[in-house]
Amino acid sequence: MDLQLTEEHIMIRDQARKFAQEVIAPVAEHHDLTGEFPVESVKQMGELGLMGIEVPEEYGGAEMDAISYVLAMEEISKADAAHGVIMSVNNSLFCHGILRFGTEEQKKKYVEPVASGEAIGAYALTEPTSGSDAGSMKSRAVLSEDGTRYTLNGRKSWITSGPVADVMVVFVMTDPEKRNRGITAFIIETDMPGFAVGKTEPKLGIRASATCEITMENLRCPVENRLGAEGQGFKMAMVVLDAGRIGIASQALGIAEAAYQASLQYAREREAFGRFIGQFQMIQQKLADMRTRIEASRLLVYSAALAKERAKATGGRYTLEAAMAKLFASETAMWVATQAVQIHGGMGYSKELPVERYFRDAKITEIYEGTSEIQRMVIARSETGLR
Ligand code: CAA
Repeated sequence: MDLQLTEEHIMIRDQARKFAQEVIAPVAEHHDLTGEFPVESVKQMGELGLMGIEVPEEYGGAEMDAISYVLAMEEISKADAAHGVIMSVNNSLFCHGILRFGTEEQKKKYVEPVASGEAIGAYALTEPTSGSDAGSMKSRAVLSEDGTRYTLNGRKSWITSGPVADVMVVFVMTDPEKRNRGITAFIIETDMPGFAVGKTEPKLGIRASATCEITMENLRCPVENRLGAEGQGFKMAMVVLDAGRIGIASQALGIAEAAYQASLQYAREREAFGRFIGQFQMIQQKLADMRTRIEASRLLVYSAALAKERAKATGGRYTLEAAMAKLFASETAMWVATQAVQIHGGMGYSKELPVERYFRDAKITEIYEGTSEIQRMVIARSETGLR
């Protein structure tokens, strides 16, 4: 694995870091407390090219590689994980899917505005009664007799950026008897009649990222907005999630790094029993393990990004690498954030410092885009070849 960062990698990392620390970090606490969507900073992220890092320039993106993407994701998430997930959904779940499976017209019409930050994209797979078992969805789409449009009905839940999205990819059953093989993907505009935003989710963490249910009631979707062929939707959803999981792994890496840096500083400054707490072996052990697990996560994230880069040339899959990176980095983020709270003692439990936010934000990385249990299932299936 070649880990030598190029000048371009260093440039995007430093640019993302500067922006994250100067623009996002100062407003992160406000957005966490209020749950207000960070319209302004998200717009600026688009202008900087952070919403379509791997998207070709002809479709409004920055045309960089997968390593650039994970480096920028880590920096943004270090300042605020909520901004991280908004960025990840636009880049991986929305743009990546349409670039991979869309027609030229769809790429021009839908990728360009999202990659350039003029519009916000979303990805709607989960339903109130189907999360991990994504294939058991109930939403339905029926093709009109003249073959010009589909009528979509159903409810989707836990839609990241749902309340503010302009456009989203939704996965709907066109042939329920075929289960997974009867699912089809559509690109819908949120001002299409029949689309409505339902209840928003009051969440434990990543509170500035808006999350809601959406409903589709006799939503008429032109046939040109079908993404790929009928029945291919489930596989597309999985392919797109492979990319998405690398984004969440880098988000987790950013959270862990932020929690670790705060702990390191605190251990050097806080005194107890006449010494800095960083001089106590029990704190040293925590710091050593935190740092080591973070570095191991980073290697898995880079390895997954390199696998994704190779797959661009070969058309192959990187399901295993993405699942391992997501599993390890998310569990590391949760573990590191827990240690960070412990090192800070009472101050770690207080809203005066961001450490309790890192702790709350870390938890979601073990849940969305496939729980840790699902990642283990994916890894084991890939290794054994058994289902
Ligand atoms: N790439 C390509 N094809 C894939 C694939 C992948 N990564 N994973 C599965 N497939 C294919 C299989 O090869 C199989 O193909 P055939 O029909 O030709 O045999 C087909 O898809 C069905 O696969 P499975 O039989 O393995 O499907 P399953 O029903 O057993 O489910 C699962 C597998 C891994 C559990 C899957 O359902 C899953 O990943 N569940 C988790 C869902 C998830 O991650 N949801 C996240 C929602 S989005 C979100 O969280 C965003 C956010 O908020 C930020």
